Amino acid sequence: MALSPTSPDLSMDDGVRADLRSDTITRATPGMREAMASAVVGDDVYGEDPTVNALQDRMADLAGKEAGLFLTSGTQSNLTAVLSHCGRGDEYLIGRTSHVLVNEAGGTAALGSAIPWPIEVDETNHFSPDDVREAVKEPDPHHPVTTLLSLENTVNGHVQSVDHVASLAAAAREFDLAVHMDGARLFNAATAEGVGIDAYAAHVDTVSLCLSKGLGIPVGSVLVGDRDSIGRAYRMRKMLGGGMRQAGHLAAAGLYALDHHVERLAEDHARAERIADGLAPLGPTVGLDVVRATNMLWITPPTEVHGPLVDHLKADGILATYWAPTMRFVTHLDVDDDQADHVVDSFTRFFERV
Ligand SMILES: Cc1ncc(COP(=O)(O)O)c(C=O)c1O
Repeated sequence: MALSPTSPDLSMDDGVRADLRSDTITRATPGMREAMASAVVGDDVYGEDPTVNALQDRMADLAGKEAGLFLTSGTQSNLTAVLSHCGRGDEYLIGRTSHVLVNEAGGTAALGSAIPWPIEVDETNHFSPDDVREAVKEPDPHHPVTTLLSLENTVNGHVQSVDHVASLAAAAREFDLAVHMDGARLFNAATAEGVGIDAYAAHVDTVSLCLSKGLGIPVGSVLVGDRDSIGRAYRMRKMLGGGMRQAGHLAAAGLYALDHHVERLAEDHARAERIADGLAPLGPTVGLDVVRATNMLWITPPTEVHGPLVDHLKADGILATYWAPTMRFVTHLDVDDDQADHVVDSFTRFFERV
């Protein structure tokens, strides 16, 4: 039975030697569990949970924003943010591959009648300031009113630079749009760029920051922004059933993660690179295409071996997101160097045999 590298009191499922499906699969470390158990709590719907308040304030400070709001998930945080910027029938502009558009169940349209306008993106999920300008609708009763630009960073692991975000936001401001950022992995982007998250947050009105991805807490996201936006989001969170009571037990995990799990994100990036470097020789010899983007690896094998390769990796106890034609491997708190090397070794053995 394998043990979790960061939580040696926890065993991994039998037969699993490395779980790289997502950075959401991590389990709280012993230190985090201790912080959660001993948290001082109160009823957060009454605003009386000191640990929630401390987490909200700390996240807002880190982002250089006035206020923060603790929410149950990234999806609820993005939904709350979009609906606090858009009224019924308003339109928001968003990259075609963005999580809010593709993977959040159409919530903004279904629950708030806020209509997404997808902008085409390139292979690293970028679009340009001119794409924003072209997508904004003329004032005309035939059109929805464009009110928001919704960004994401990282997008599928790809970093949007501070300058790029600044130029997109500046284009949006020409039309008085608000700007939201799904920063589920903004700490990864900031780590890769060597800046604080405030460098990004300075250009947008609201940022949703997930604690349950690379930062390794079990539940929760914090939406940060100016006091007015967060005030509207506070009401919206209540409407969406997101008011929690003694949520400080969860917020304590968030505070613990800010102390212990931010700087180490660079290790996740280095481990993803370690795998990419290990697989590099297979590129020219067998045609394995590997793209590394922060803590994510996008791996495309030759089509004819996709099925047998997946079977082989699974038999070696390696879990990943086995989409076809491109598979996704994500490094995180519970992936160590031995596991990274096991992935490389497994790929290498497979291609030695075929
Ligand atoms: C980029 C991005 N945004 C938002 C979310 C939503 O987070 P949650 O699963 O907490 O709702 C995810 C989840 O994986 C994500 O990858």
